[in-house]
Amino acid sequence: MTKNIDELVAHLKDMGFVFQGSEIYGGLANSWDYGPLGVAIKNNLKQLWWSYFVSKNPLNVGIDSSIILNTNVWKSSGHLSGFNDLLIECKTCHSRYRVDKLIEAFDPSFAWAKLSIPELADYIKSQKLPCPNCGSHNFSEIRQFTLMFKTNQGVIESEKSTVYLRPETAQGIFINFKNVQRSQRKKLPFGVGQIGKAFRNEITPGNFIFRTREFEQMELEFFYNPEDEKDWFVYWMNQVETFLAQRVGLNPKNYRLHEIPKDDLAHYSKRTIDFEYHFPFGWEELWGLAHRGVFDLTAHQNGSGADLTYLEPTKNQKILAEVIEPSVGVERLLLAIFCEAFTKEKLANGEERIVMKLPTKLAPYQVAVLPLQKQQKLAASELFETLLTNFNATYDETGNIGKRYRRQDAIGTPLIVTYDFDSAVDHQVTVRHRDTMSQERVAISELDTYLRKYL
Ligand code: GAP
Repeated sequence: MTKNIDELVAHLKDMGFVFQGSEIYGGLANSWDYGPLGVAIKNNLKQLWWSYFVSKNPLNVGIDSSIILNTNVWKSSGHLSGFNDLLIECKTCHSRYRVDKLIEAFDPSFAWAKLSIPELADYIKSQKLPCPNCGSHNFSEIRQFTLMFKTNQGVIESEKSTVYLRPETAQGIFINFKNVQRSQRKKLPFGVGQIGKAFRNEITPGNFIFRTREFEQMELEFFYNPEDEKDWFVYWMNQVETFLAQRVGLNPKNYRLHEIPKDDLAHYSKRTIDFEYHFPFGWEELWGLAHRGVFDLTAHQNGSGADLTYLEPTKNQKILAEVIEPSVGVERLLLAIFCEAFTKEKLANGEERIVMKLPTKLAPYQVAVLPLQKQQKLAASELFETLLTNFNATYDETGNIGKRYRRQDAIGTPLIVTYDFDSAVDHQVTVRHRDTMSQERVAISELDTYLRKYL
């Protein structure tokens, strides 16, 4: 576990997990590219989420909807009118702030959400709120700032051709509710999961990959009959908690549940709990769990004219389904996993080693094959290619063996197989375990079974 974000970022860049976006052109603010190790761990994480929330859940199915949707989707969902942040600028140093963040920094308990723009401006003036950067009280007017990225579809640019990049994946699920239910012959309750890119023109992106303008979401919209007696909100709260503690291996001391006060709830929510993680820069939202009631299906039924009701077979009654939504950002969860895994250890010989204590299901490579010396290169690379059939394996022959062990520790590879002098004779290899550094001799013929047992 690390609390030093700068050291973590330097390590992730150095090892090839994450690179600055557009780096050779001087970068693009707050954009990040994922290197060979980054894309591997991201894919593993998405696979883990998909398997837990979609493919291995008996009630759920998945979809992959478009990023650009009919603009009326955003009218009905309330995004076009309501997906704004309130922006204020310090006239002295020109720092820009989200009004809610400025007020929260001054008084975390102040219920700002119900105030109008003039009331917020009065509050900031009367309380003499200081600019967090320069201390001045000289603020601009408050402006509304839309978070949606606008673009045009087709050759002619006009108001009619304006389209938006989706700011969440959820709406693609709601508008396909009927398609999924009918084509899959689904009965309530059932959920629809989706993983995909989302775009928000955030006023204050930052903290590395925590808040960016382009990110991926993993969202599940779970539909059920409002008369269903089961408390699906609590059910999904427990599922998220199990996933965090048991699948991605977060220490329960490092996350907590925060019930959003009624006055601060989003327009669509009847109840929201945020899972917050103790990031190096403080406790921040990791994963949102929202009770969206019938808001979405009602809004899209009214907006599109399509019948989005569900015919409850037992009562022959048409109803609108309620929705529970667990929603998390891939990169934000990845940052929590990186913070949790990054460890520095003092060794008996006084040296320090960096170990990424990643769960085996997430590590970019499950196993590395190393020849002890040049003479074993051929046999070791053949063994590597054999292991590729069943494992995410890597091969490294560059540098001394100690340094190669350190590199695998530093990228989180749980097991290292070393092919040495004796291997050609006794047909055994040495398997080294990342966390304990313990070593065992294993017969090559038994290696597959041995690795499976640990992975
Ligand atoms: N459909 C509901 C929804 O999108 P949200 O609280 O705005 O709710 C859900 O976002 C999750 O998406 C957050 O808990 C966070 O993990 C992730 N997220 C939101 N904005 C993000 C950003 N700018 N950068 C990275 N992740 C973000």
